[in-house]
Amino acid sequence: MPESFEEKIRDAIANPKNMGEMRDADAVGTVGSPECGDMVRLWLKFTEKGGKKVIDRASFQSFGCQTAIAVASLATELLAGKTVEEARQLGASDLSEPLGPLPPMKIHCGQMVEGALREALRVEGEAQEEPISSPGHRAVEASAATLLDSLSTSGVPAGKKLRIVKLN
Ligand code: FES
Repeated sequence: MPESFEEKIRDAIANPKNMGEMRDADAVGTVGSPECGDMVRLWLKFTEKGGKKVIDRASFQSFGCQTAIAVASLATELLAGKTVEEARQLGASDLSEPLGPLPPMKIHCGQMVEGALREALRVEGEAQEEPISSPGHRAVEASAATLLDSLSTSGVPAGKKLRIVKLN
């Protein structure tokens, strides 16, 4: 059983859940942090249960730090089965709860996942709030098919090539 924050992160990213594009998603939200340059995209698929719209499944892509990947992975598991209303109530600390309190330097990593969730719910039209409530994060091109597409078209100066380095 992992004890320390580092051990929990290692555990979560050793076998990340629900990672990858969801082609039949109903909603997608993408956020990027101008400060650290990381990005998270979250896809949601809804279903109907007992007359309520429920999240059937969620998936994510992240060009981000290990904490963002760990929180996003945990969040996709937590979101499955939640109603849209319940999902709207979830904050970064709820999404990262199994990791325990995030260190101050890593709080924005959880907020980025929360931001992607809020953006996906906003895109779905269920949430009437402004895009991205997390300070320091911004929504990026929710219409792009994949996170790579977003990266390809945002923040990359014309004529420059994009190189993505996969972190271990
Ligand atoms: Fe920016 Fe983690 S350091 S998302």
